[in-house]
Amino acid sequence: MTLRIAVIPGDGIGVDVTAEAVKALTAVSDAAGKSVRMTPFEWGADLYLRTGVTVPEGGLKRLQQEFDAILLGAMGDPRVPDNRHAGEILLGMRFKLDLYVNYRPVKLLSERLCPLKGVGLADVDFTVFRENTEGLYVMMGGNFKKDTPDEVATEVDVNTRKGVERIIRHAFEFAKRTGRTKVVMADKSNVLVHAHDLWQRVFKAVAAEYAGIEAIHLYADNLALQMIRRPGQFQVVVTCNMFGDIVTDLGAALQGGLGMAASGNIHPGRLSLFEPIHGSAPKYAGTNTANPMGAILTAGLMLEHLGWLEEARRIEDAVRWAVEQAKTTADIGGKLGTREVGDAICERLRG
Ligand code: IPM
Ligand code: MN
Repeated sequence: MTLRIAVIPGDGIGVDVTAEAVKALTAVSDAAGKSVRMTPFEWGADLYLRTGVTVPEGGLKRLQQEFDAILLGAMGDPRVPDNRHAGEILLGMRFKLDLYVNYRPVKLLSERLCPLKGVGLADVDFTVFRENTEGLYVMMGGNFKKDTPDEVATEVDVNTRKGVERIIRHAFEFAKRTGRTKVVMADKSNVLVHAHDLWQRVFKAVAAEYAGIEAIHLYADNLALQMIRRPGQFQVVVTCNMFGDIVTDLGAALQGGLGMAASGNIHPGRLSLFEPIHGSAPKYAGTNTANPMGAILTAGLMLEHLGWLEEARRIEDAVRWAVEQAKTTADIGGKLGTREVGDAICERLRG
């Protein structure tokens, strides 16, 4: 069976790192005698500035009908000051494809990469599930008396019982399936007494269905502290959209920086989207300096999601090998360029 992947490199270094992820997918599938067909889509700032189009008419339908998964690089370009295209493309896909699970593993591949003292591989190995379709991301709100001294601005935090329940349930199901024994839910129910009280009630109700799994609550500020102080205590973390965004940058730092962090935007059983956690870093676009490992690991997550478990494992092993051999970009202490890191990983995958 041929995997059909829609590839959206996007903006800035998204283009550079996606090229390496594509190379890695080709290498790992060639080595396995399997086939992946990758179809590029030029959605991003250039297309938007040229044509005014963000997501072309019928674009999402086409993705749903013709592809098994989407691989995205990064979105964001200083020529589009409000990054309208990024919102419509990335957040648009999260919302319209109902990709309610933002799957963000926090996994240290080499002790050398962790900025914390005395922390080993077993201490940084957990998964954050970030709610991905509601919360503070729904862009409900408005301005009153805009641009006056009396201006009022609001942003509405939308939390639905269904939305909260499905992400919490997903976290418990993942824990159960993968033999994890603890799920932490992080909120600010001490302050957000309506919205996050809902998270509290739903968490307790869902947890009651999973007898063998310990359900632990932390306030989100305390989660940030604990992730630094004793990251080894975490196995599975579930939280809302905004807190998930923030703590997964912290998680990326534990893994060696934004260049190392991978993610999936998933609706189980439906077309899903995979992207590295880092942004488009326009300053470094085309300079052959961006770290492609986050994008390559993301391609691995995509394969894992699509059931190519052996190939997914081989990608992670090849990246770990490259880190150990110091075949890396400068952000994690190496001397190689983006392409050379990609080449080294591909050689390993083919060898
Ligand atoms: C992420 C990014 C996005 C987010 C931005 C680019 C809208 O930071 O995927 O973590 O906030 O979700
Ligand atoms: Mn983010």
